[in-house]
Amino acid sequence: MPPSFADEARDDELAALLTADLERLLPLESTSLLDAAARHALLPAGKLLRPLLLVRSALAAGGSAERVLPAAAGLECAHVGSLIHDDLIDQDTVRRGRRAVHDHYGPAVAIVTGNSLFFTWFEALAECAARGVPHARIVAAARIQARAGRLVCEGAARELAQAADLETTVEDYMEMVRLKTAALTSAACWIGATLAGARRARTEAFAAFGEALGMAFQISDDLLPYAPASEGVGKPANSDLRNRRPTLPVLIARDRATSAQREDLRHAFTAQPSDENAEAIRTVITATGADFAAAEAAERHTTLALHHLSQMTDTIHRRHLEALAIGRSAGR
Ligand code: IPE
Ligand code: IPE
Ligand code: MG
Repeated sequence: MPPSFADEARDDELAALLTADLERLLPLESTSLLDAAARHALLPAGKLLRPLLLVRSALAAGGSAERVLPAAAGLECAHVGSLIHDDLIDQDTVRRGRRAVHDHYGPAVAIVTGNSLFFTWFEALAECAARGVPHARIVAAARIQARAGRLVCEGAARELAQAADLETTVEDYMEMVRLKTAALTSAACWIGATLAGARRARTEAFAAFGEALGMAFQISDDLLPYAPASEGVGKPANSDLRNRRPTLPVLIARDRATSAQREDLRHAFTAQPSDENAEAIRTVITATGADFAAAEAAERHTTLALHHLSQMTDTIHRRHLEALAIGRSAGR
């Protein structure tokens, strides 16, 4: 039997297929303001991490890329919908090197566009039926999607509740990240394996892999404002500081600081955000080695992700998943 194209497909080839599917979902000729705003956010595409995880997981579980492609493109729509809302919440005006949707089209359009993209996620999943995916698998995937969407919202709410609170525990932060980010990367892998027809015990390993990868990914992302030369990484360098996010480096620095350093940190973290206060926070983080400790925490989650992968059959697609886990935990 000739190998299907996907057996040899590289990530950039899958990314091209995904981009074509996004183009199909949001046709250029549409005159709708909603479609224009959605296109602005979706294309040119970002790293496509979540849809790549979905397609690779389907392949690693013995399925085909063509059958799950709409589900993967739909997942990217949901991710981008969450970014549109996240930028509105964080008041960040740049995303993927271009103006954030709320900055370009206004906050009302940003809310409606995000909402619309969450529904596109489900509409696109249903398209997999026409590609031969059995209905029962689509229902199972719909349940995973719906739950993940709800968890992401819970994570966003917890992040808001933690803002400016330097009493946040490391466990609270970890749980918030598990909800806000890891729930969606976990769902990506879980849906891929589910649509491919993997049995429950196997799909759980995919879900656990995606969750650990998501944890590593967000912890690394939260390190970027405190890394040297953090300019030009895509993320507005001072967004977390401006929004007073008690991210892992800040929390570890708090726990390790001398009382004088803790006082400096508390003052700089709660005072009016400024370059000077940002620098004061960075100084305590560096002096306490909190940046290295947070990087180690990200690495521990990557190791856990690789451990979950090692439970799966060794295929070329498992090795692609491995590369995604290693490559993505190092930040953008
Ligand atoms: C950004 O996600 C949001 C986080 C969870 C940190 P990505 O870094 O995957 O963003 P894109 O999709 O490549 O733009
Ligand atoms: C990630 O939040 C967004 C979601 C998980 C929805 P962040 O605020 O940490 O990510 P960036 O830095 O804006 O991409
Ligand atoms: Mg943000």
